[in-house]
Amino acid sequence: MNNFSEKIIDYKQYIVDSKLRYFKPHATKIEKSFAEEISYSLNQNSKFINPKFFYDRKGSDLFESITSLPEYYPTRTEISILKKLKQDLPSYLDENMNLVELGSGASVKTRLILDIFTKLQVKTEYFPIDISEILTESSEQLLKDYDTLHITGIIDTYEGGLEFLKTYDNKKNLILFLGSSFGNFTPDDGKLFLEKIFSTMNSDDLFLIGLDLVKDKNILESAYDDSQGVTAKFNLNVLSRINDELDADFDLDNFSHHSIYNESDQRIEMNLKSLVSQSVIIAKSNLSLNFNENELIHTEYSHKYHVSQIKKLLTDVGFKIKNVWLDEQKHFSLTLVSKN
Ligand code: AVI
Repeated sequence: MNNFSEKIIDYKQYIVDSKLRYFKPHATKIEKSFAEEISYSLNQNSKFINPKFFYDRKGSDLFESITSLPEYYPTRTEISILKKLKQDLPSYLDENMNLVELGSGASVKTRLILDIFTKLQVKTEYFPIDISEILTESSEQLLKDYDTLHITGIIDTYEGGLEFLKTYDNKKNLILFLGSSFGNFTPDDGKLFLEKIFSTMNSDDLFLIGLDLVKDKNILESAYDDSQGVTAKFNLNVLSRINDELDADFDLDNFSHHSIYNESDQRIEMNLKSLVSQSVIIAKSNLSLNFNENELIHTEYSHKYHVSQIKKLLTDVGFKIKNVWLDEQKHFSLTLVSKN
């Protein structure tokens, strides 16, 4: 048995047609349940909620709305840089390279990269990796728009998906991790994540990471506290999710969106602020909580970087910098790295 036939045993394969299939592990790694994680994180002296819980259906839709807000510059700025890659990226690619994307793709951004791949290749293989089955929704549309595209979706953690692909074939991979999602990790988790990516990459693979840059405090604070209040709804939605899924009684009118830019730690810190002294019950987590007036629940960091820090972060893990692209205002960056 080769490595791939050994690995594939851990996954169930769903074949939709000759151009579309999915792999899903039979058993996901033993992860703590939503109820257990919330029970732990809201029972601390400094209460927090992991930002991964923002993305239920409603939260994902609200995030989509955030990406087109006038104040939220990251998405449109990253798109403007990706548009310029048409000239530079092909020299790093080859006819047989696979495209891998961490996080659900099929947005404008994936399409800009697919435009480059499908122009260069007779057949393009795209591997979106996402823990949520959301990736199945967009694949069929992509196949309608790109004749030469073949999609193999992997419904697994990023690390699990990359391990799986390592044994899949011996083609090179370009791995995309866009949108500055990396900035939502704590610095320690971010470092572990990059080490994991490095160790699961094959020696010829490339990694393209989009990261947001340090800039004027006012621009940053308005991007995370927009005038239409969509970011506030996105933040508060996590409490609705806890109400619905964990049988809790958060009164959303008693909490407000609170977001500041912490200059010394170079990050937006998003919180939910308790407007009154109050008690909340979360039945499925067996929790009865007390909140003081003005007490904060930390919900998200969004780190911002200087280009020199991005280079150091990546080279410290062992990556070699191939290229860094910025927009004219130097608001956002795309960095291409390799292992060799
Ligand atoms: C997904 N992530 C990169 C977004 C960010 O900008 O940190 C999440 C977000 N939170 C509030 N607005 C957007």
